[in-house]
Amino acid sequence: MTKQTFYGAALPKLEAAERQLVSLCTQCPLSHELDGESPAVLSCISRIKSPDSMIAKLRGRGLAADCQAALTAVHDAVGVRVICAFADDVYRVAGWLDAQPDLRCIQVKDYIACPKTNGYRSYHMIVELAGGPGQGITAEIQLRTIAIDFWATLEHQMKYKRTIPHEALIRAELKRCADEIASVDLSMQTIRELLTQSF
Ligand code: GTP
Ligand code: MG
Repeated sequence: MTKQTFYGAALPKLEAAERQLVSLCTQCPLSHELDGESPAVLSCISRIKSPDSMIAKLRGRGLAADCQAALTAVHDAVGVRVICAFADDVYRVAGWLDAQPDLRCIQVKDYIACPKTNGYRSYHMIVELAGGPGQGITAEIQLRTIAIDFWATLEHQMKYKRTIPHEALIRAELKRCADEIASVDLSMQTIRELLTQSF
């Protein structure tokens, strides 16, 4: 099924919301406090949730698998992922987004402060667009470091495999990698602080 078939007349509005959010996030003016040069936002990707995955999510929750439910009962028909270099940038960008007049933050899930048992770390915001072309649409913004994004992309592949050979071993290795990445992220942040202090 195409997005046009599933989302119908709502699709242009969803696409407008997606463009509005991507442009907001990529234009985030924050950079590192001390060097003033390294941008807090490295890159930004976005998507409108595919009809197949939206229908599976709605059915899984016992909801009607239609556009109306997709726009009201769940909040991630529009999704934006913001990649930062350092863990503290994630929180600074989240704070900046929270202060934007066109965004109203509805919910936060801080999987950096409280990682999932598999090791997943990201900062999720559910926002409602309170102004601009996407007004009225809700969206999910995921903020994470580039190192964790590397991990999450590989880990995400587990979701689509029906049978995984050596599954327990792979899950344990992924968890170990996630914890190491979190530790490296902190070390990188400390090194950056030390470097910028000597400017
Ligand atoms: P979904 O039904 O998947 O949207 O979950 P949810 O409504 O409980 O929200 P949650 O914040 O847990 O997850 C939202 C999105 O974050 C997912 O669709 C993924 O894109 C991402 N995500 C959450 N958990 C994981 C994880 O363990 N691994 C990876 N790779 N991504 C995750
Ligand atoms: Mg989701």
